[in-house]
Amino acid sequence: SNLEWSLPVPSVKELSIQRPETLPPRYLRDDVDYPITAPNSDPSFSISLIDMAKLANPEFQESELQKLHTACKDWGVFQLLNHGVSNDLLSNMKKQIHDFFNLPLQEKQRYAQKPGSLEGHGQAFVVSEEQKLEWCDMIYLKTLPIRNRNMSFWPYDPQEFRVTLESYSEDMRRVTVSVLRFMAMALGIEAQKFSEAFQDGKYNVRMNCYPACPQPERVIGISPHADNTGITLLLDCGDTPGLQFLKDGHWVFAEPIADAIVVNTGHIIEMMSNGIYKAPVHRAVVNRWKERLSIVTFCYPNIDANIGPVEELIKTASPALYKTLTNAEYFNIFFNQKLDGIPFIEMLK
Ligand code: SIN
Ligand code: FE2
Repeated sequence: SNLEWSLPVPSVKELSIQRPETLPPRYLRDDVDYPITAPNSDPSFSISLIDMAKLANPEFQESELQKLHTACKDWGVFQLLNHGVSNDLLSNMKKQIHDFFNLPLQEKQRYAQKPGSLEGHGQAFVVSEEQKLEWCDMIYLKTLPIRNRNMSFWPYDPQEFRVTLESYSEDMRRVTVSVLRFMAMALGIEAQKFSEAFQDGKYNVRMNCYPACPQPERVIGISPHADNTGITLLLDCGDTPGLQFLKDGHWVFAEPIADAIVVNTGHIIEMMSNGIYKAPVHRAVVNRWKERLSIVTFCYPNIDANIGPVEELIKTASPALYKTLTNAEYFNIFFNQKLDGIPFIEMLK
């Protein structure tokens, strides 16, 4: 497997502290791809805002479900407002992450990744000396179920980090279950059809630090990909944009909105919805002047749930477009995919 071994990658935050004028070649890319479209220049290129209070209110529910359906079908991403997570918790979580990344490297390395595993403080894998590096430090933690937690990777400095992350992960689970109920309703199927597998699902969190970068146009924070999750929930810690979605040949920013959660579908909901909601391609770009921090929650079904199209969405006119897999089969395919081979999603069909 590609991921069973990996080479050490230097800390981007450390590199940025030295204020280099030019970067080591391993960060530099010259593959210019799609144009970037600012959402305010064309309203058809702007990510929908979905109001969860309206979804829960009988008076507005129908029209908001319609909006949700369109967002999931045409984009696979929306920004969620009025999700019920308290502002205090959100700002406390942002503060803990900020304080953590500002610790000396030596302190952060108490929680350093082990070879071949993402868990802990470090960077994305590289598997060869030639592979380009991403401009991103991270700390990756398993949060739910509680038995999955590997406390040796959970920072005890800053002091409130652990208890804040515990509350935050509980709230992300609650938001996931609500969002998935509304997605099922938007598709006209029983409300629990998606959410039941996520009630005791698996939740991992990746906290990202993208330091200011002297050559932002030649560097990538996170390379283009679609997520292998059910859904993914992202909280921007400040107002520096970085996350972009590929829509009709353009990269479109998910502009940070204070306390909104960016929700995107992953391959598991793509499979469960029988391809009606597709997992969008996205990436993270970096900024010349400002550091960006983000908190990303990856939401997976519980390990006993099968992954495949729900029965109500398989009809004679629209036969099953994806296999039905056990959790182990799904992740085996994911971890054994070749870097340059058949796209992951094709192997699920
Ligand atoms: C980010 O925008 O910080 C993360 C993007 C991703 O998780 O793919
Ligand atoms: Fe992603």
